[in-house]
Amino acid sequence: MANFETKIVETDLLIIGGGMAACGAAVEAAYWAKKNGVKVTLVDKAAMDRSGAVAMGLSALNQYVGVGAGDNTVEDYVRYVRQDLMGVTREDLVFNIARHVDSTVHLFEKWGLPIWKDENGKYVHEGRWQVMINGESYKILVAEAAKNAMNAAGMEIIERVFITEPLMDGNKVAGAVGFSTRENKFYVFKAKAVLVAAGGAVSVFRPRSVGEGMGRSWYPPFNSGSSAYMTLRAGAEMTCQEVRFIPVRFKDGYGPVGAWFLLFKAAATNAFGENYMVTHADELKKYAPYGMVKPIPACLRNHLGMMDTFAGKGPLYMQTAEAIQKIAAAAGDEKAAKKKLKHLEAEAWEDFLDMTISQAILWAAQNIEPEKVPSEIAACEPYFIGSHSGASGAWVSGPEDLQTAGTKKDYFWGYANMTTVPGMFAAGDASGASSHKFSSGSFTEGRIAAKAAVKYCVDNKTRPAVADATIAEYKTRTLAPLDLYEANKGYANDANINPNFIKPRDFMFRLQKLMDEYAGGVSMQFTTNKHLLNRGLELLAMLKEDSSKLAAESLNELMRCWENMHRVAQAEAHVRTLLFREETRWPGYYYRADTPNMDEGNWKCFANCKVDPKTGEWTMVKRTIHRIVE
Ligand code: FAD
Ligand code: ADX
Repeated sequence: MANFETKIVETDLLIIGGGMAACGAAVEAAYWAKKNGVKVTLVDKAAMDRSGAVAMGLSALNQYVGVGAGDNTVEDYVRYVRQDLMGVTREDLVFNIARHVDSTVHLFEKWGLPIWKDENGKYVHEGRWQVMINGESYKILVAEAAKNAMNAAGMEIIERVFITEPLMDGNKVAGAVGFSTRENKFYVFKAKAVLVAAGGAVSVFRPRSVGEGMGRSWYPPFNSGSSAYMTLRAGAEMTCQEVRFIPVRFKDGYGPVGAWFLLFKAAATNAFGENYMVTHADELKKYAPYGMVKPIPACLRNHLGMMDTFAGKGPLYMQTAEAIQKIAAAAGDEKAAKKKLKHLEAEAWEDFLDMTISQAILWAAQNIEPEKVPSEIAACEPYFIGSHSGASGAWVSGPEDLQTAGTKKDYFWGYANMTTVPGMFAAGDASGASSHKFSSGSFTEGRIAAKAAVKYCVDNKTRPAVADATIAEYKTRTLAPLDLYEANKGYANDANINPNFIKPRDFMFRLQKLMDEYAGGVSMQFTTNKHLLNRGLELLAMLKEDSSKLAAESLNELMRCWENMHRVAQAEAHVRTLLFREETRWPGYYYRADTPNMDEGNWKCFANCKVDPKTGEWTMVKRTIHRIVE
């Protein structure tokens, strides 16, 4: 077996991830843990300064309610999220984040994040809920605050360790295992509580970017389904696994559209100049009551654009030039308009330079001047990002004070944000049915979950028991791809092609092809049906069998092997839930061709699932949607 040192870390609360939710968790946990004599350890697969979805920076804080400023109420936010997710949302979770998110935004500002202000000192809004930032260094700044808080409380941060599996003590969580991506070290974290905050998943579906563009995606390449794997593998109930997110983005560079739609008020059209939101407005009636109030849900906006794309009226365009010229013209005389135009031009480029640099590079490479010509937009491949406009994640307990007599039995089991596995908590992309938390809300949810997890550690004094034999078993399994490669590498003269193993890159291609063709990816125009899904499950079962043949030549490839195993778990939960829900509730995210309509009577509910970690048997279940806000 590969010669790896075993490092045992004894802690009370283990935070997995170093992204927005984990940083929020670190800040909050450090405070409560120090007060209560609890030990906290945070582990990230990468370097926290630039890890996760905010690695490149962002251009807006997409969740700011502005209660203090009198802009909105928390109830308004809950109604907005409910509408955007076609009625399927945990209102208690959304409410809990929304009532605390403004304080997070104020903390960010205190730590030095430049938030745009107008001449009266008020935040500049991109849209009703979004405030503009100069966000290139956003992640560095938030990670610094998390590190400072952890260091001051004497807590430990371990970077560049990839977590592979949860450790269990019966049905309770007992920690997690992983390996260093830089040194030959196998890590065992023994903990009373574990907070999963390892982001969502990308590269489960075949991306649009293939060949020379491989690896480009809207969602960051670093997050590969570890949150879903960790929670599923521990036996946690999952929710909204069918609600993937398909963002419409500037084509091939994946630049976000929010600033264009909301700040610049640009229109999107088909190639013939028709505004599909206008020409297809009637289609929205089919999805009443959700399509009838503004903002129109993200999936329905996608759907109307897709109607034109599928009818051969593409490419779709963001009419950037028209929007910029219109705002500039409204600035006043010719001189004022010219000045305004320069300013808008800078803002347009900055939006991408802050957040998706590759889009700015692509514009430059293709000689695109946004103030002169429109830019192509297109629907991306599907991603799993419960913190944005998708909803996939673990089914977690809500806060006690927001429950009513009717909701408590379904939505509360002791600690806020605890999954159905005792001691295992989830936040950010890892927790489901609480969409539209974005960066600021994910940080906030991390705070909420960490406070509850520290309380769990205080209330539960017994340390989990993990036998040495179990640790040895985990170590063998974790390192198996390295051993398989070593044992068989001499058989062929190509390190990547060998009948005795499969390399992670090829394994990923197989998964992506399968998901694309059977689970409604880009090449299938996001359409599937029960026959395709059932066949997809058969192929997934064979892929899972072959995962024991994954081989790694290096530590980096070992990480790629495990990333793929994590992706497969996310993929299977997705396919099973697509199959379970016999309707099409989120057109524009996916279409079930055999059940093409929304069915409020039978399917206005959560579709939840879980898998028995011992037998591998899946259970699918409907859960009730309770209204908390009128
Ligand atoms: P992340 O912040 O992605 O963190 C996940 C963490 O888990 C990372 O540290 C990663 O290294 C770690 N990790 C993953 N797997 C493992 C493992 N196996 N072991 C250990 N660690 C692991 N929000 C806004 O508010 N405004 C915006 O303008 C905005 N723009 C966006 C633009 C893009 C391109 C994207 C992708 C997202 C954008 N968002 C925006 C959304 C925001 O980035 C996410 O909502 C937020 O980052 C989610 O937080 P998280 O902690 O769940 O995940
Ligand atoms: S980002 O996370 O990659 O920046 P995006 O650009 O889609 O996301 O959206 C930023 C914010 O604007 C999100 O809150 C999103 O819901 C919102 N948004 C984007 N487009 C529209 C639109 N046409 N109408 C209403 N809200 C929108």
